[in-house]
Amino acid sequence: MSVEPGKGIRTPDADEIQIHDARAVGADEDFDRSLRPASLSDFVNQVQVTEQLGVFIEAARRRGEALDHVLLAGPPGLGKTSLAHIIAAELSAPLVQTAGPALERKADIAAFLTALEPGSVFFVDEIHRLGRAVEETLYPAMEDRRLPVVLGQGAGARTVTLDLPPFTLIGATTRTGLLTTPLRDRFGVCHRLEHYEPQDLRTIVLRSAGILETEVTEEGATEIASRARGTPRVANRLLRRVRDFAQVRGSGKVDEAIATEALELLEVDGSGLDRHDRRLLRTIAEKFSGGPVGLSTLAIAIGEEPDSVEDVFEPYLLQQGLVKRTPRGRVLTERGYEHLGIEAPEGVASLF
Ligand SMILES: Nc1ncnc2c1ncn2[C@@H]1O[C@H](COP(=O)(O)OP(=O)(O)O)[C@@H](O)[C@H]1O
Ligand SMILES: [Mg+2]
Repeated sequence: MSVEPGKGIRTPDADEIQIHDARAVGADEDFDRSLRPASLSDFVNQVQVTEQLGVFIEAARRRGEALDHVLLAGPPGLGKTSLAHIIAAELSAPLVQTAGPALERKADIAAFLTALEPGSVFFVDEIHRLGRAVEETLYPAMEDRRLPVVLGQGAGARTVTLDLPPFTLIGATTRTGLLTTPLRDRFGVCHRLEHYEPQDLRTIVLRSAGILETEVTEEGATEIASRARGTPRVANRLLRRVRDFAQVRGSGKVDEAIATEALELLEVDGSGLDRHDRRLLRTIAEKFSGGPVGLSTLAIAIGEEPDSVEDVFEPYLLQQGLVKRTPRGRVLTERGYEHLGIEAPEGVASLF
């Protein structure tokens, strides 16, 4: 059930979306779409990214050519999908979207490529999850717009090469490390999105509040921004939760007091960590004496998939210096202990 903004209450999501999970889940996807910035100038911060892209886009437009292939990397929720849509919009080009796991066979990707209108943006999300054969089909397609196809079978089989229209491939990945070098090398433009500073997240919260027709004070927005794990999607999600809270408990206006109260109820702490994050830290401290503990062992101990630990939990915990990756596994840092309010055992500080 969803209700017009400001007209009533949205029921809590049945699936109990975890606050920290910056991936888009269920109801979030519609919500994301409604809040997605539409142009480069709407895209808050990440200035180097937007400035450079702006230049490349303008140059491609002037030459009447397709933009070079673009790789966007970074943890979930930082704006990769938004940027892909923005690039297509700025190029006034049609956007065709798919994702790595959906392209199982060569024929799947061939079907997409041959159907592209000239100048299109072909957006492949989770590009690190392409199969080998599909990936190899992409190489000549990206390099010289050639698509070799095999006709027939057995001894009579022959290969013909189809010419493809000019197009721009935009790949998004949460993990550049998983991309093969030949694929990575075929992108002319590579950008890594980083976690956002609180003041940028505040701008995003204020902008989203405007779209949602929710009244938010500067302090309320600051409070939400400072607990959003550096992630725009999380900031928007917290805003949505706090807005519900403000409508039920308060006057509907999101001020500092309401924001603080709501975030405490949601168990999001002052650093933006929720109970799942704290459980991860606590598990390393208590079950593994501070580490090092291997990724899969840790994942099992907290009942999560190793991929989620690596893509969703860790980037922010690492960035905050609460955990550290070592060749032998994950360790809790002195700051990590501090955050839990547990005294670090002797020698932890000297580890770093
Ligand atoms: N730079 C930004 N400025 C404004 N909003 C942003 C920005 N980056 C992300 N967002 C918001 O965060 C949400 C998630 O972004 P998205 O592009 O889907 O992330 P990703 O594809 O990296 O997971 C979007 O709906 C958008 O509202
Ligand atoms: Mg995305």
